[in-house]
Amino acid sequence: MPKQDEQIQRKVEHLFLAEKYFTDESYAGFEGVRLIHNAIPELSMSEIDTSVDFLGFKASHPFYFNAITGGSNQSEKFNSELAKLANDFNIPVSSGSMGVYLRIPETANSFKVLRENDPKGFVIANVSAKANAKQAQKAIDLIDANALQIHLNVLQELAMPEGEREFYWLDNIKDIVSNVNVPVIVKEVGFGLSQENIRQLKKCGVKNIDISGFGGTDFAEIETARNHELDLTYLDQFSLSTVESLLEAQSSLDDTTIFASGGIRTAMDIVKALKLGATSVGISGLALHHLQKFSLDETKLLFESISVQIKIIMAAIGAKNIQEIKKAPILFDGDLKDYAIQRNIV
Ligand code: FNR
Repeated sequence: MPKQDEQIQRKVEHLFLAEKYFTDESYAGFEGVRLIHNAIPELSMSEIDTSVDFLGFKASHPFYFNAITGGSNQSEKFNSELAKLANDFNIPVSSGSMGVYLRIPETANSFKVLRENDPKGFVIANVSAKANAKQAQKAIDLIDANALQIHLNVLQELAMPEGEREFYWLDNIKDIVSNVNVPVIVKEVGFGLSQENIRQLKKCGVKNIDISGFGGTDFAEIETARNHELDLTYLDQFSLSTVESLLEAQSSLDDTTIFASGGIRTAMDIVKALKLGATSVGISGLALHHLQKFSLDETKLLFESISVQIKIIMAAIGAKNIQEIKKAPILFDGDLKDYAIQRNIV
């Protein structure tokens, strides 16, 4: 792998800085959402089914490993480990941005390990919104991907001295959606999506959206640490939390598959995100933190424990399956209620 490349170096710094700034606490807003327990659930724990239909793939759990990395030797190690876990849990796994592969083909192995370690699983390719359809298809083909993520990362680019300064993306997105041979998910990278943006994406033919809100990995903080000259942490003030962004998506639940990510730390966060309309819930920072700080085995134990806890919460609210979570009663705190009123979300 070329060692001196700036883009590869950036990927390595992202891994290191994501760990430096990781906190066990989430700011995604789930504490403002309350589920009400069901004292008469009329179910047996053995009946609880946590499987979800993830774009045609029957995943055993309602969470997936969201985009993180690629391009460096460290990325290759983490992608192998994430794919092994995805294979064990029978859940989807996404690649980090494959722009570096499109520019430097020698980095291909750091992405190919995803498919090699999860041969029959649901693997997702990832490109930026400036990629064209041909490049997107090339990324898909490299890992025989089952879906493609297109990431939207304006605030991250603005925070990078070497970042993009041209943001004409809608035509590209439209082109990719109509020309690649797998379903497309458009995602944010931790700043959230508004209902206005969701509407724009739907007009381009986008059917699957990951709102990826604020509350976990914060690229304003990470890029400020890389930048050294300017403090750009104020960029996170534009963010919508994961919960706010899920509220923004409410009017699109009928015609769009919504995925949620951003600051997911616990089984309770996952169940609340499902209740708010997510089809499945993406996890990046938490998985990466456990792989970096602990080990593959300990990361596996964490997700086994989260799986058990999802079942316990489902029993407590009387939900035998994920669809029944959607029917459980819910309460919002005053701030979220006020947010929903100001944003015309009923
Ligand atoms: C990311 N994320 C990301 N997203 C994307 O679409 N392409 C990418 O290349 C990356 N790169 C990346 C690197 C690192 C180190 C992290 C931690 C994350 C964003 C990720 O998929 C997700 O949207 C956000 O991180 C929010 O989720 P968490 O981290 O709070 O669970």
